[in-house]
Order: sequence, then C-alpha cells, then structure tokens
Amino acid sequence: MHRFHSLRWRTASVTLLGATILGGVLVGCGAGNTTIAPGSAAKGCTKVGVLLPESDTSARWESKDHPLLDAAIKQALPGAHIDYNNANNNADTQQSQAEADLTKGDCILVLAPQDAQKSATIVADAKKDGVPVIAYDRLVQSNDLAYYVSFDNTKVGDLQGQYIADHYQTYVKSGHNNLVMIDGSQTDNNALLFKAGAHQALDPLISNKSLNLVGETFTPDWNNATAQTEMEGFLTKQSNDIQVAYVANDGMAGTVIQALKAQNLTGKVLVTGQDATVQGIQNILLGTQAMTVYKAISKEADATAQLVAALSKGSSTSSIVNGQTKNANGVNIPSVLEVPVAVDGSNIASTVLADGYVTKADICQGVPAGTDSIC
Ligand code: BGC
Repeated sequence: MHRFHSLRWRTASVTLLGATILGGVLVGCGAGNTTIAPGSAAKGCTKVGVLLPESDTSARWESKDHPLLDAAIKQALPGAHIDYNNANNNADTQQSQAEADLTKGDCILVLAPQDAQKSATIVADAKKDGVPVIAYDRLVQSNDLAYYVSFDNTKVGDLQGQYIADHYQTYVKSGHNNLVMIDGSQTDNNALLFKAGAHQALDPLISNKSLNLVGETFTPDWNNATAQTEMEGFLTKQSNDIQVAYVANDGMAGTVIQALKAQNLTGKVLVTGQDATVQGIQNILLGTQAMTVYKAISKEADATAQLVAALSKGSSTSSIVNGQTKNANGVNIPSVLEVPVAVDGSNIASTVLADGYVTKADICQGVPAGTDSIC
C-alpha cells in the first residue's frame, strides 16, 4: 500500500518536472506497480532514512550510534537530510517507520533491524522503490541488502569467551566451577554470532570439565529486567553455586549484577559484558564486572556514511568494503567489518579513555576516589 503511495509520490514529482526520468530511472506512466531497478533511486540521493532498533537495553544506540551516524552522514554527503527513527524494540514499529520514510521519498536506508527475519520485508519494500538498504550493525536476513556494516561479531563472542578461559581459575575451586550463559535476543543475528564465538572459546573447557555449564538461555529483546530474572532463576536452581556468568552485553550485566548483589555475591562471580558503556566501565572499576567489549562505533558510523555517499555519487565502494558476509541463504553480502577489543581493568586508559569513547568524569562518577588507578 505504502509503496504505491511512495511511487505515486515519485511519479507525481516526475510529472511536475515534466520529465519521465528520475535519478536516471525510467518510471512507467501511471506506474502503480512498476518496480524500479534495485539501488537506482540512490543516484543523487540526499534523503537518508536511519532506522535504529531500540533505546532501552543498551545505551549505545542513542548515546553513540544516533549522533555519530548523523554527523558522519552529513559530513560525507553535504546537504544530506536524515529521517531518524528508533523502533523502541518493536519490529512492527520499525516496519511502519520504514514505510513512512519510503513514502517521504527517502532514497537510501540505513537499517539496524529489531528482528533479522521480519525486517526482510523492509528491504523488499525498499527494493520495489529502487532504494538500497545498508544493514547497520545487525544483519537483515535478505538477499537484497546492498551492504552490511558491523564488527566481527563472532570475534566479539570469542573475546568474551576467551576472557573467561583466561581468568576463570581465579573464581572457581574444586567442585565449584559452574558457568551460566545469558545470551542476547534470538531474533538478533548478532546474538547468534556472539553465542557461537563464546562457545568456540568455552566448549573445550566445558568438554574437559574445567567448567560445568549449568544453564544457558537467550533473552528476548535483550530485555535487561528479563536477564535479572534469568540470573535469579539460575542462582535459585544452583543454590547460589555459580562462579562464572557469561553475559552478552553491559545492559544485561548490570541487572545480573543486581541479582548477584541480592545474594552478596558481587565480585565473587566472573561477569562479562559488551559495549563499553559508562555503566559497564564503572562496574569494572568497582570490581563487579570483569570485562566488556569495546566496539569503536565511530568507525562503524563512518564506514556507513562513506557507503551512503558513494551510493549517492554512484562511485565505487571497493575501497570501503573489506569482506563478504554469508547470510542464512548462503548469499554473500558486501561488508565492512570492524575489529572489537576486549577491555578490563588493565586497559581502560589505553582503549576507551584514550579514544575519548568515555570520559574520566563519566566513568568515575559514583566510583569512590582511590578505588583504582583511574579514579
Ligand atoms: C549490538 C550490541 C548491543 C545489543 C543490544 C547487538 O546487536 O551489536 O552492541 O548490546 O544488540 O542492543
């Protein structure tokens, strides 16, 4: 429905201009159901729809991705107009937001999907309008994606798992080596990659019984409160006998730490995280979380902006793209994958502080002076 609206809008613009060519594409007369060549609407495009998935389970989306994408796209493509949307963790909302963007005439979409499968409809709708979609941070399970920009997400999980492999001995003792795993949302392709990467590092230790995996669960929508309930359930089931909690991101680690606090277990259990959020770094400084994974979102935003500009200018993207990602159908999507970095108490200064990703003032708030070398 919206597509017809969108096409009508475009056809109308064409008629007003007294021409039949828009962005180098021939649009059929009264073309209610004409499909424009994929990607073709991008040429000369300055109207970009940005669709992020949520704001409630990780601070990154609103505090980092939103402003960094805004600035990077405007810098790479002067005069760009951005329609920004946050789906607040609802796939239907995201679908409506994408439809609205297409109706407004947005001609390139940057989409971090709330749901990897459902969002394929957005890509299909965009394709009908000739609008290319760049999957941002999270893969969309569509064969029609133009590009995918993210981090090496299996590596993210591997860094988390490897950190446990390198440090679990400080937390376990004979007969008490229980591990639980609190994974992210099953509908987020990244969560599957984080889990796979973590298992890559942990499975040998589970097989040789160095660690005893007593529970593992996905967490719908990455919901932080649900993660706390999951941890409470594991603690009850194990009578508090848990030494390691693999937790997929900092937001969920924060509530897992609340569950541990209620049992006087903070600092006694190795807890992992991801995103290098202010709260995550504070928890590391306080000794309640062992590590996080720093992903330099400015690089992700910059690469995305360069692709947007190249699509608009019709220039080559070969110097931007650095790999291919196979989707669930085995189709290769041209990709830009950045490198994640593990952060613990030993390298906060040389990583997130040195990069200006967080400030000393932010991370030392609520951390008693003298707790560590930073604050
Ligand atoms: C992102 C993580 C984030 C999580 C929850 C993932 O797709 O890569 O950085 O913590 O979603 O928002």
